[in-house]
Amino acid sequence: MDIRNPSAPDGNPEMADAAVPPPAPAVIRRVDYQPFGWLVPRLELDFQLGLTDTRVAATLHVERNPAATPTGQIRLNGEGLAPLEVTVDGQPTSLWRMAGDDLVLDLPGTAHTIGLVTRIDPAANTQLSGLYASGGMLCTQCEAEGFRRITFFPDRPDVLSIYSVRMSGDADAFPVLLSNGNLTARGDNGDGTHWAEWHDPWPKPSYLFALVAGRLVANRDTFTTRSGRKVDLAIYVREAGAGEEDDLPRTAHAMASLKRSMTWDEEQFGREYDLDTFNIVAVSDFNAGAMENKGLNVFNTKYVLADEETATDGDFDAVEGVIAHEYFHNWSGNRVTCRDWFQLSLKEGFTVLRDQLFSQDMGSAPVKRIEDVRVLRGAQFPEDSGPLAHPIRPDEYREISNFYTATVYNKGAEVIRMMRVMAGEERFRAGCDLYFDRHDGEAATCEDFVKAIEDGAGLDLNQFRLWYAQAGTPRVTVRLDHAGDVATLHLAQVVPPTPGQPDKRPMPIPLKVALFDRASGIHAGEQLVVLDRAQQSFSFPGFATRPVLSINRGFTAPVSIEHAAPVEDLVFLAARDDDPFARYEAMQELVVGHLKDVVDGKLSASERDAGRAAIAGALAAVIADPALDDLMRGELLILPSQTYIAEQMLIADPGTIHHERQALRGALARALEGEFVALHQRASAVPGGLNAAARGARKVKTQALVYLAEGNPDLAEQMAAAQYDAADTMTDRQGALMVLAGLKGPQRTHKLLDFYQRYRSNPLVVDKWFGLQAGSLHPHAIEHVKALATHPDFNLKNPNRVRSLYMVFAANPAAFHAEDGEGYRMLADLIIALDPVNPQTAARFVPPLGRWRRIEPRRAALMRAELERIAATPGLSRDTAEQVGRSLG
Ligand code: ARG
Ligand code: ZN
Repeated sequence: MDIRNPSAPDGNPEMADAAVPPPAPAVIRRVDYQPFGWLVPRLELDFQLGLTDTRVAATLHVERNPAATPTGQIRLNGEGLAPLEVTVDGQPTSLWRMAGDDLVLDLPGTAHTIGLVTRIDPAANTQLSGLYASGGMLCTQCEAEGFRRITFFPDRPDVLSIYSVRMSGDADAFPVLLSNGNLTARGDNGDGTHWAEWHDPWPKPSYLFALVAGRLVANRDTFTTRSGRKVDLAIYVREAGAGEEDDLPRTAHAMASLKRSMTWDEEQFGREYDLDTFNIVAVSDFNAGAMENKGLNVFNTKYVLADEETATDGDFDAVEGVIAHEYFHNWSGNRVTCRDWFQLSLKEGFTVLRDQLFSQDMGSAPVKRIEDVRVLRGAQFPEDSGPLAHPIRPDEYREISNFYTATVYNKGAEVIRMMRVMAGEERFRAGCDLYFDRHDGEAATCEDFVKAIEDGAGLDLNQFRLWYAQAGTPRVTVRLDHAGDVATLHLAQVVPPTPGQPDKRPMPIPLKVALFDRASGIHAGEQLVVLDRAQQSFSFPGFATRPVLSINRGFTAPVSIEHAAPVEDLVFLAARDDDPFARYEAMQELVVGHLKDVVDGKLSASERDAGRAAIAGALAAVIADPALDDLMRGELLILPSQTYIAEQMLIADPGTIHHERQALRGALARALEGEFVALHQRASAVPGGLNAAARGARKVKTQALVYLAEGNPDLAEQMAAAQYDAADTMTDRQGALMVLAGLKGPQRTHKLLDFYQRYRSNPLVVDKWFGLQAGSLHPHAIEHVKALATHPDFNLKNPNRVRSLYMVFAANPAAFHAEDGEGYRMLADLIIALDPVNPQTAARFVPPLGRWRRIEPRRAALMRAELERIAATPGLSRDTAEQVGRSLG
């Protein structure tokens, strides 16, 4: 029964609306930025550690900020804290009061020392923000606003302090004591407790503070920087308890990735490490992927631990990418930080670009580019076309945690990448050098970055700044005319309206284009055109016949291209374009165009078959092409995702799209059964290892099974079971199990059980086991998810486990969009249950329901009703309330 309103029938939104709505949390606006009234050049922290009781003594050395309006008060942020002691200049004072969660203190002079004591219970901190306990260890997560849950402080990124940290605690429970910077002293108290002191010489904002204490073991190494500084590196994991697996050997790949990152940042960006120690700690309860705390990165275990037995090739790449990302933040984030949280993309967009470029250099650059574009289109494009759309530099928020988004991160990276394309690599580098030079030690803005690139690269970015201000994915309409011997490219752009931004101005859109001579199959050179008006035409003389247009090569601009290209042109490009991304794009376009026509009911049966035959022909050419490596072949075989297809339609019917996409896959598999079987056989004979050939072979092997599962399920079941049994890597084993999980035969249960028995003591692999079932194509996937929610290994307090079940489920279109709305109900139930435990993570499950406006009306009503049910839940967190409010908006 519904206890908050006993008279309301279940799920009646009108009745729920009648309840008094909670006050909406205050809106914070970018234009309201004011510098803080005080500087805090030094901060001393003293921790007496305990899992359920930690005492924190903070000493803040403050002085008036000459750049701010003078004030006789200081407001220190807090969250759920009560001060046990307040002193000013060493004397107890009563000149303080609480203002909400914050502490306001009178300060008569221009410089003072403030003393504060607080007590916290890390074990009770299920939000995983601030200081919390995880598997017996203590660790922190302070970005964005977690530090205020540890002590009272101006918890904003433009207040930079030099930190000295002392901590003491039980020597048996916490033999390892870590914080930022360098270890300066340690000792034993002789009573079973010990202590350590850490000093970080680099001024930093509170969000970069970190502390870790626990029974940890380390993988140690060293790195010598190009100027000869020897750096001690360590990657810490929890010491294995009884019945637990030893994770230490699984840190080798992360360590190798770290050293490669350090070298690469010196070579490519001229950035050198600046402390004598660099520590990484892996934690299994973590809201995000990882955190770049100065000299002490804290990581989700998912992005540290990898070996071939338990991690897939994709996991290896993710570890390498996230290790690099956090390391690169040492300059793009820590040495130069953000003035306020509206500038988040200043560090995140730039750092994502830097980690993408690094990964491109470490492996296959084209494949990495394709993967990054797939992520952008799968996650960011839907965000940008829905109720949560925001510019990469947002104008307002209620809860900043909700703005760690694909837009700020991934579109942010694309925007900077466009500047790099327009400037060229060398001039872009000069701009970056100028940025680091100018702003080292500062809390900067996106505008500072653009100005530095403008000055350093010699580029006019006046109009380009709109990319920071305007939300929405630009749509570029393309038409190619041919008359005489001149080809003319007509381009038009529309930046669609988004919440709060009804009217948009045209933006500069850099597009690399090439025009292929149809007969010879070659082009006369790639050109960069910059579309910076609503409409523009570009002429290319010298074509006796109409050329084939290849546009947005390498995905130079994060836009959607609308071009009614003839099928034969797409087939031509899919087979022959010398730009690998463009080749992939042509394959995608071929399939998306066809499926859109099918779903819209535009094709007769014979037209549909002709479309399928064209796609099958292109796929056959991809399978046979000896010039392709298997990693790239695997990309070309991947069908566009359901999300991406839906995104191309104004209103989508998820049921129909799913059905037609699967039907197409089945038809392709039947047409090419022999080819897929041969591909699987050929790839199975490739020797193992982590080299590109072996990885490529594994990728196409599972791709072949994915097709065959739709065309010939019995054969696929038999082949997948054999692949599972023969697997000597997690990639092969998980790939086979993924296919089996979607089939109805006996091998499904058999192998799922085997997998669980084999890996039940490894949480990251158990996550995969949950995810494989939640994401499966099995018609009863929704029942499986329900059952798994009651599995003894399911745990609402562990974000990885919750995501492995429900995030994967929400991304499984057939199951999530069940016609009766059961999927929506399940997700809403989860959000309501998780919100009081971990609001940051709970709020991340709202966007899938927020898609309702773009879904057919019956399902849309069901989705909306679930959002309203969440909105009516009493005591909703600021995080979830904001996301639900905007989604209903
Ligand atoms: N700065 C971290 C990173 O991108 C992520 C911090 C996530 N914080 C959050 N509230 N979601 O590397
Ligand atoms: Zn980051």
